[in-house]
Amino acid sequence: MKTTVSIIKADIGSYTGHQKVHEELKKKAGELLKDEKSKGTLLDYYVASVGDDLDLILTHDKGIDSKDIHGAAWNVFMECTEIAKGLKLYGAGQDILSDAFSGNVKGMGPGCAEMEFEERRSEPIVAFLMDKTEPGAFNLPIFRMFGDPFNTAGLIIDPNMHKGFRFEVYDIKNHKKVMLKTPEELYDLLALIGAKSRYVIKRVYPGPENKVPENEAAAVISTDKLHEIAGEYVGKDDPVALVRGQSGLPAVGEIVEPFAFPHLVSGWMRGSHNGPLMPCSQKNAIPTRFDGPPRVVALGFQLNEGTLVGPMDVFADVAYDRARTKALEVADYMRRHGPFEPHRLGPEDMEYTTLPKVMEKLKDRFESI
Ligand code: 13P
Ligand code: 13P
Ligand code: MG
Ligand code: MG
Repeated sequence: MKTTVSIIKADIGSYTGHQKVHEELKKKAGELLKDEKSKGTLLDYYVASVGDDLDLILTHDKGIDSKDIHGAAWNVFMECTEIAKGLKLYGAGQDILSDAFSGNVKGMGPGCAEMEFEERRSEPIVAFLMDKTEPGAFNLPIFRMFGDPFNTAGLIIDPNMHKGFRFEVYDIKNHKKVMLKTPEELYDLLALIGAKSRYVIKRVYPGPENKVPENEAAAVISTDKLHEIAGEYVGKDDPVALVRGQSGLPAVGEIVEPFAFPHLVSGWMRGSHNGPLMPCSQKNAIPTRFDGPPRVVALGFQLNEGTLVGPMDVFADVAYDRARTKALEVADYMRRHGPFEPHRLGPEDMEYTTLPKVMEKLKDRFESI
């Protein structure tokens, strides 16, 4: 049987400010998805949240880009937006850019990461959910999982993985994509994905000689850029990803290991600052300090004929305490820069803020030097 796992997410209102999804919204989402499951649209679901983002983890047999599945998620977001409006939550309906559903949530505001595959004898998957950051925040950890032998021992040890992986990279400004193979094209890959605000890893596929079929994605990342869709800043593109593990793919421990290093990502405060990505439990996924620091939650599941067995809230583990302490030290250090780069983003990433207006106001006062 082929199973599809879809994460469809949106920020449709939060309290206080951009901190947290209200329990009423999660409750409503659960009720609506329960109905969809009893109707047979879904095999299973889990309602999660990170900060102000509502994340619907859905399993079904309808393949990716299914109108039924996207429609069900869209309906959840619309109904929850009404509740958010009723509670006067902050940014009610923030990520909903259109009021007419056209068959797919792509380009309408919500973010989406989906993959379809033949369930293996045992199928561990990890759902990563982020807030206060951008899709490129996944470049470094996904690269380390599938491309870096200092992270993933399996690249050396497991004959399935020894021939590497293939990375599908999107140029999100030019709407183009390229497939790069590691280890052969490792440096080309890094040349692109190090520029994470422009080149983002969309999917990773097994390389040759892997027992996992070459055409089945091992990882998929949401790459929706809200301001690219809306043409102006309307909120951020807090991303999600799905990664399959074990038996020819990185072990679950190798999948979560990169997050022990709280790397710098953009998207903190007003979507305009760099800060450390702090791994945390669902319970602690409430970004309060300067609306941050940016968070990542990892939920592990075993798939059982489409049923989600779990979740395992991976970063609740004390083994991530040091990463959190480091993230807080880095947060202190970055905050001391106030409005200066590299805490504040560079001009190319500030184009949807007031910077163009400041430039417009001052344009006649600039003199040649
Ligand atoms: P797999 O054979 O499932 O990849 O297991 C290896 C493992 O679990 C090492 O930690
Ligand atoms: P969200 O994109 O999570 O709504 O955050 C907006 C923001 O930048 C808060 O400072
Ligand atoms: Mg918000
Ligand atoms: Mg958010």
